Amino acid sequence: MKKNKALRLEDYRPASYLVDSVDLRFELDPAATLVRATLAMRRNPEADAKEDQLILNGKHLDLRSIRLDERELDTDHFQVDDEHLVIEGVPQAFTLETEVIIHPEKNTALEGLYLSGGNFCTQCEPEGFRRITYFPDRPDVMATYRVTLVAQREQFPVLLSNGNLVAHGDLDAGRHFAEWEDPFRKPSYLFALVGGKLSCLEDSYTTASGRSITLQVYADARHLGQCAHAMKSLKQAMRWDEQRFGLECDLNQYMIVAADDFNMGAMENKGLNIFNSKYVLAASETATDADFQNITSVIGHEYFHNWTGNRVTCRDWFQLSLKEGLTVFRDQEFSADMTARPIQRISDARIIRGPQFAEDAGPMAHPVRPRSYVEINNFYTLTVYNKGAEVSRMIHTLLGEKAFRGGMDLYFQRHDGQAVTTEDFVRAMEDASGIDLSQFRLWYEQAGTPEVQVERHYDAEQKRYCLTFTQSCPPTPGQPRKEPFHIPIAVGLLDRKGRSMHLQLEGESRAKETRDRVLSLTRTRQTFEFVDVKQEPVPSLLRGFSAPVKMKCDYADEELAFLAGHDEDEFNRWDAGQQLAVRILLRLVDDLREGRPLHADNRLSDALRDTLENPHLDRAFKAQCLILPDENYLADQMDVADPSAIHHARQWLREHLAADLRKTFLNTWQDNLEADPKQVDAATVGRRSLKNACLSYLSLLDEEIFIELCANQAQLAHNMTDVLAALGILTHRDSPQREEQIAAFYRQWKSEPLVIDKWLSLQAQSSLPQTPEIVESLLQHEAFNIKNPNRVRALIGAFCQGNPYHFHAEDGRGYAFLADRILEIDSFNPQVAARLTTPLGRWRRYDPKRQQMMKAQLERIAAREDLSRDVGEIVEKSLASSESDS
Ligand code: TRP
Ligand code: ZN
Repeated sequence: MKKNKALRLEDYRPASYLVDSVDLRFELDPAATLVRATLAMRRNPEADAKEDQLILNGKHLDLRSIRLDERELDTDHFQVDDEHLVIEGVPQAFTLETEVIIHPEKNTALEGLYLSGGNFCTQCEPEGFRRITYFPDRPDVMATYRVTLVAQREQFPVLLSNGNLVAHGDLDAGRHFAEWEDPFRKPSYLFALVGGKLSCLEDSYTTASGRSITLQVYADARHLGQCAHAMKSLKQAMRWDEQRFGLECDLNQYMIVAADDFNMGAMENKGLNIFNSKYVLAASETATDADFQNITSVIGHEYFHNWTGNRVTCRDWFQLSLKEGLTVFRDQEFSADMTARPIQRISDARIIRGPQFAEDAGPMAHPVRPRSYVEINNFYTLTVYNKGAEVSRMIHTLLGEKAFRGGMDLYFQRHDGQAVTTEDFVRAMEDASGIDLSQFRLWYEQAGTPEVQVERHYDAEQKRYCLTFTQSCPPTPGQPRKEPFHIPIAVGLLDRKGRSMHLQLEGESRAKETRDRVLSLTRTRQTFEFVDVKQEPVPSLLRGFSAPVKMKCDYADEELAFLAGHDEDEFNRWDAGQQLAVRILLRLVDDLREGRPLHADNRLSDALRDTLENPHLDRAFKAQCLILPDENYLADQMDVADPSAIHHARQWLREHLAADLRKTFLNTWQDNLEADPKQVDAATVGRRSLKNACLSYLSLLDEEIFIELCANQAQLAHNMTDVLAALGILTHRDSPQREEQIAAFYRQWKSEPLVIDKWLSLQAQSSLPQTPEIVESLLQHEAFNIKNPNRVRALIGAFCQGNPYHFHAEDGRGYAFLADRILEIDSFNPQVAARLTTPLGRWRRYDPKRQQMMKAQLERIAAREDLSRDVGEIVEKSLASSESDS
């Protein structure tokens, strides 16, 4: 494996030449598309070296001609290599015209211009534009674009690009053209074009200031009926951004296009968002309630980028979290307002505490603002996105809503139209609020998950209560030692009845009317002393998950059960139940490993029964409480992960709970049966999630009736959430109903790829012993297509990340299976291959035998000649000898 060079943040230099305007002309042809680019360029006054060499990026381009100020350049005036075009002796200001041929049909990497379902589309972030034309392909070069698209009218009736349509018409030989103009300066990564046979759902939106905007959602004709939810979500997002942040849409026309072949979720191209069809299309017959929710949040996310990302963009890719972290924070807040805040927060925290903490603890650990990378595509991570969102959220927590809004306003006032850094964002927040964030900045710079240990002390005589926090952060690659973080810790103190007490800190004049407050932990060890505390409280710590840290407190099981039953912070109430479940599960794991008989612990059953029978709690919340911590999360809580013991312990506990709570589950299930299959409002969704959670427990009882119920539900329900819940239960049971329903589902849905993805995932996640064979055989199934990223994630991703029990099978075949797929996929789509590699990188978490087998597969991948830079970087870092060097 060739070692690839890392790029470093400290090496950033302004671009030598800027582009003021771009004129692009595409003669679209699947086999060979001609791209003519006319760039108005000039020297950057900010550039330091005064050289007259122009270096443009370009990849896989067949160069046809170059003209500088209208004069054709001959070959001794420029050089071309795999990645660049270099022109010597350019003037201060000039016009550069290039003509290249590209091959969309052969583009399997899905970066640049490619074909999806016969339609042209583009993906330029982060560095795809260089696969379209020669250009200074970096986000700090911003230009206005005028784009002419020419294609056969028959085959490609719809021709879209960013901005406004300024001309269109027919040409000779069955061709037509469309001309688009984007008035806003933008970096090349926000360029987009779409061409093909697409239908369009159209609507309009009137902004707060009274401007009318045309909204269009494009999809293939047969899916037009599945676009209404996306359109509704878009309008909600537009209204929400006006109300919460005072931000209005700046366009006349806002377009969303659904593409079947897409490497990621969606892309915020100016005025022309391109989406993975999974995040656009939904009907209650074909999409689950979770799909509807995801669509709302991704539509919001891309829309919110119009301000946080597009109007104010990133100076360089090290600043990626500037737009992504902030925009995820915005989409989470939007989703919280559209559904229920505690439920949204539970889902945010699940991602951070599960896969993000795992990333922080693994070989790819990096700060929210990385300091170096080999392949930027590998840094679209949970750390940059989700931990970055937590960092924005902590600023919000420390400043409060009003000052945070002031900071946002100042940020836009200062930086509209600019390409800036995370530092610029933090400074706007500081300047607007007067709050010093100097120590807080470490959240951007230090990788790893801080751990906070709590000690408590109650002085009954003095009526004083002390909480002492000690923070530490384990080493991560390149960062052996860490400085203490500024950690906002929201706390409450519960009295014996479970009510929150007044909180008054030592030195404060009198009790403030607050029962919930945010402590700022800034030192390695720090004590907070509460006065006038009439009885020993149970502390409720890190309420609402106020910081992305591991909070460790020596609660007794009874205290966790008490918090699970009483905490008025709903997030912590859920969390206390989860913590209790983790403890019980880890004890069961120990018992299993030591060959001891498993015995029941009634505290969890009691807590769950109380929760289910509590009329004041929301149904969706109850359903969340019923979900035990997942196997991956439990593995992360062990010194040496034991996937098999974890699986069996969790299964045993579920069966035990089912038996213990049979009556409650049955009643709750019955009470919630009436959930209108056509409705996807919060109340109905809550009913469905609760009844299906109960059914999944009931099915674990040795009672045939519940299996029959599942088979009926799978067959007869007219709602995908219900169908899938039932089918999911059946996939874990070796029964004739399983085979029948899996076959029937396929027959019914085989022409709907997004539904087939669910079918693939369910089978890949089954705990049945034959699952590995089934997964192998599904690779050959007519419904599977390894070139499509959604299919790959649905089958291979679901098996390797979502089925740890089978993936980590003792014979190592799961590892070999994954390595084979990575090598296969890397040859045509490196980005997708690299993302699949994560589970192998976690080898240090397992026993020596598994370690050896996982490493052997990583080494086998590393030995491949021509390995992509994407997979190469991950494999190399995964194999690096120690986690704290680099
Ligand atoms: N900017 C996109 C988003 O988060 C991310 C994205 C879409 C992306 N497609 C990509 C990143 C391809 C890397 C490669 O909204
Ligand atoms: Zn984004």
